[in-house]
Amino acid sequence: MEKHNFVTIADLSKEKIMYLLEMAQEFEKHPNRELLKGKVVATLFFEPSTRTQLSFQTAANRLGARVIGFSDAKTSSTTKGETLKDTILMVSNYADVITMRHFIEGAAQYASEVAPVPIVNAGDGAHMHPSQCLLDLYSIFKTQGTLENLNIYLVGDLKYGRTVHSLITAMRHFNPTFHFIAPKELAMPEEYKLYCKEHNIKYVEHEDFNEDVIAGADILYMTRVQKERFSDLMEYERVKNVYILKRDMLCKAKENMKIMHPLPRVNEIAYDVDDDPHAYYIQQAQNGLYAREAIFCHCLGITLEDVKNDKSI
Ligand code: CP
Repeated sequence: MEKHNFVTIADLSKEKIMYLLEMAQEFEKHPNRELLKGKVVATLFFEPSTRTQLSFQTAANRLGARVIGFSDAKTSSTTKGETLKDTILMVSNYADVITMRHFIEGAAQYASEVAPVPIVNAGDGAHMHPSQCLLDLYSIFKTQGTLENLNIYLVGDLKYGRTVHSLITAMRHFNPTFHFIAPKELAMPEEYKLYCKEHNIKYVEHEDFNEDVIAGADILYMTRVQKERFSDLMEYERVKNVYILKRDMLCKAKENMKIMHPLPRVNEIAYDVDDDPHAYYIQQAQNGLYAREAIFCHCLGITLEDVKNDKSI
């Protein structure tokens, strides 16, 4: 079987993205199938996770695979000094595909170069979170009916937020206009602004966050300030509550505007927003299951036709 990694969203063409979204749509109709029966999926989490880990494990279970792995690297032989290379080679002996989250940027890419089995990047440092990106694209497509020509407002920690970096990269195919709303300390890194220029992606930068600024949004993508990435905790304290979305700030929002957030949230969305029809972050996380079922199929050579013709439902 051909090996397909899922390490960066930058590898995916527009056609491939739309293909995977169609596959996710099939899984939303029927999540429980036997397409991975007899397979073993490993989930190696060197960093904490709730949604990504559990939705990948659920995706594997719903597709009939069995799951091995760890959610705390302290319980693995990493603590005895085992290298990432050796860990990946060992797990490749047991599993058909490895899903991994690691705190080092590029760790999943490195693993994909040494592993004989496909690697799925479940987040590498502040770099990329491609499975989150696919579920974000699915959520945007599902709510807006298109990915083309949208106004996407990214708010909060744009420096360390790997989900916003992945989203910019994927949206290059769809002529978006981005609005970057961040304090100076957490501004979008120059490398991603340069990426936008190179790919003719329009963007506007703001420091203010209020009802007038967000009135033009189709998607309002909130992010958490990533405490774990700060070397200076005083700086974290200064910026941690800089933007809080409150319900009264939605008074000028477009009717079909959706608020997204990769979660977990800390303070950046007030709880009274949860009951507002613009709030979409809980459904967004549910969409992660369907997107991650599609990712496993992509990695293991199962096609959209296989999914459509599947008789196990
Ligand atoms: N969105 C996301 O990556 O959440 P977790 O850290 O809980 O997996």
